[in-house]
Amino acid sequence: MNRRTFLATPAVAAAAATEAVAANDKIGVALIGCGGMGRSDLADFQKQPEVEIRALCDVYRPNAETAAKMLTGKADLYNDYRRILERKDVDAVVVATPDHWHPLIAIQACEAGKDVYVEKPISHNVREGRLMVEAARRHKRVMQVGIQQRSGAHFQRAVAAVKEGRIGKVHFAQCWNHGFSASNKGMGHPEDAPVPEGLDWDLWLGPAPKIPYNPARRNFRAFWDYAGGELTNWCVHLIDIVHWALEVDTPLTVTSSGGKWFYDDCRDCADTQEVIWEYPGNLLVRYSTLVHNSFGPNGHPGNKSFGSYGIMLQGTKGTLFIDRAGYEIIPQMEMHSEKVTQGSREAYDDLNGLGQFFTGLTMAERATTSFQHQPHVRNFVDCLKSREKPVGDIEIGHHSTATCLIGNIALRTGEKLQWDGAKEQFKNSAKANEMLRREYRKPWTLAGL
Ligand SMILES: NC(=O)c1ccc[n+]([C@@H]2O[C@H](COP(=O)([O-])OP(=O)(O)OC[C@H]3O[C@@H](n4cnc5c(N)ncnc54)[C@H](O)[C@@H]3O)[C@@H](O)[C@H]2O)c1
Repeated sequence: MNRRTFLATPAVAAAAATEAVAANDKIGVALIGCGGMGRSDLADFQKQPEVEIRALCDVYRPNAETAAKMLTGKADLYNDYRRILERKDVDAVVVATPDHWHPLIAIQACEAGKDVYVEKPISHNVREGRLMVEAARRHKRVMQVGIQQRSGAHFQRAVAAVKEGRIGKVHFAQCWNHGFSASNKGMGHPEDAPVPEGLDWDLWLGPAPKIPYNPARRNFRAFWDYAGGELTNWCVHLIDIVHWALEVDTPLTVTSSGGKWFYDDCRDCADTQEVIWEYPGNLLVRYSTLVHNSFGPNGHPGNKSFGSYGIMLQGTKGTLFIDRAGYEIIPQMEMHSEKVTQGSREAYDDLNGLGQFFTGLTMAERATTSFQHQPHVRNFVDCLKSREKPVGDIEIGHHSTATCLIGNIALRTGEKLQWDGAKEQFKNSAKANEMLRREYRKPWTLAGL
């Protein structure tokens, strides 16, 4: 199918929507990027009674068609998102493309008067992220980022406990993704190949450099041109909780080590990496990603799908471990001694010594999982009406994304970088500053980049 016939093809329709909401209350939503996460977003947007999915867009026709099969109503299919932005009946767009497309689509959507739900990481580089914040504010648009853990009740409760001082003053936080891959072959070294039927490769590449089609490239997370490995994928979610709980969002310094040490394949990005950030308030934060061993710093090997991952905040009174499955507050134990007689001192039948005992400095607490994604979508829909900032507002998502992006700049320069959060520039490296933005491939342009 050529590109022209792909534009504005009448939709696949399923059963009519049955929600009893007045027609003029309906909110027209379009999904741009109908891959794995786009379809997860679609599922929860469809559950909102006010929402009507009016358009689906993907540069790969089979993915748009797969999403269309999920529809409970009617929508038109597109391969060029700009046709969606022209539609008056689309109030909001969901941007679930690979990362390198998020900024341009989100900013143009703001300019077209649409509200935006954009997946994390919000951008491919730091400067783009700032431009997204500015566009949302300039055009008075609601822009929610897909950092859905903020909408999970158990995340909210754990963060409240930290803010209440339950684990004391936190000087060290760690987060990690440790996975296990039985083979180091990864995605291999495939040859360039003819563009598959139904894929608009030029539009997939968009502002990224033009290259021949290669199937490995669609694993976009593994290539610097489109993303930044696990650090800009999972770590955005994890660092976001550190920022939220500890009321920080801008590190002072960043260093990183590691590289492509396990996989023998064509990826660019690190598979084994550690990042260390220093934050105001004497806070040290570290992130690690592994693919050869799934054991985590919390002492668990993790589950099958995600390996071991999570966030651990270590405070003067206790430790919080949290992931999507629940959380645990583990008290810091303090040792006490009481006076013992000479006789009892000689009767050493206790390894700690007689008269010694331990008390916890805080209450233990444990919780299981809560819904995160569905309430996050609900919060966005509520904000479309109230015009309030959503819980994952673009400024928040920008800080969580930028923190990860500068980690990769530290890895690639090999420098300990000092970050000027107000200027969003490094204080000590011209080389690193060059990596805060990039040239767009013509004809794509982004004003202010
Ligand atoms: N919030 C979360 O928990 C979460 C989870 C997974 C992925 N994500 C994010 O969602 C985004 C998509 O990830 P994915 O796993 O679904 O990837 P994917 O490759 O499965 O899907 C991306 C889709 O976008 C399409 N696409 C590419 N360029 C496009 C364009 N210009 N216009 C329209 N469609 C285009 C691709 O053809 C593909 O179908 C990423 O940014 C990722 O970080 C978020």
